Amino acid sequence: MTKKIGVVVSGRGSNLQSILNHIDAGELPVEVAVVVSDHQEAFALQRAAKYGIPSEVVERKDCKDKAEFEDRIADALLSHGAELVVLAGFMRILSGNFISRFPHRIMNIHPALLPSFTGLHAQGQAVAYGVKVAGCTVHFVDEGTDTGPIILQKVVPVLDDDTEDSLADRILVEEHKALPEAIKLWAEGRLTVEGRKVRVAR
Ligand code: GAR
Repeated sequence: MTKKIGVVVSGRGSNLQSILNHIDAGELPVEVAVVVSDHQEAFALQRAAKYGIPSEVVERKDCKDKAEFEDRIADALLSHGAELVVLAGFMRILSGNFISRFPHRIMNIHPALLPSFTGLHAQGQAVAYGVKVAGCTVHFVDEGTDTGPIILQKVVPVLDDDTEDSLADRILVEEHKALPEAIKLWAEGRLTVEGRKVRVAR
C-alpha cells in the first residue's frame, strides 16, 4: 500500500512542489496525505489546493502555548494518516513533546552542509564565512536545532561573487533533488538509524 506522508511548511513551498512533481512523474512512491502550515498566507497552501490535497493551518498566535501549537500540528498529521512527517521549509523548532510522537519519522531539509551553519540564514552564514563549498542536508529531526542523524547531503560550489540569494538559488536546485530522494529511501524501507548514523541499504 502506498505510504502516506504529511508535509509541514511555513512559506513558498518549492520543496513541496518538487515532492509533488516527483510523485507525478512516477518517481516517488508516496501519497501526500496532508499539508500543514503555520501561516495562513503560505503559498504552499495554494500548491496543495491545486492538487486537491487536504491542508490544515495551525497558527502559533491562535494557541495558548507551544505545547498546544505542536499538539494541534501532530493531531492534524495523524488524523490524515501521515506515517512520515516532512519539514519542507518549516521555520520553527519542534520540542521533544512533538518529536516523541513520531520517533525517527520526522525529516527536515536544511540549506547547509550540517553540522555547519545551523538555524536561520544558513546560506548567508556560508557566504559570510567564506567557505568554498556549500549545499543541503536532509536529516531526521531530534531535539536539537538541525542536529539529527544525516540521511543525505548534496554539495554546490560557492563562487567569489555569491550573495546569500545567489547561493540560496544554487542550493535550492539540489534541495529539490535531495528531499524526494530521501523520502524515496524511507518509503522503500532502506533507512535504519543507528545512533548518529543513518544506514542506507543498497
Ligand atoms: C528552503 O531553502 C529550506 O531548505 C529552508 O527554507 C527554504 C524553504 O523553501 N529551510 C530552512 O531554512 C529550515 N531551517 P520552500 O518553501 O520553497 O521549500
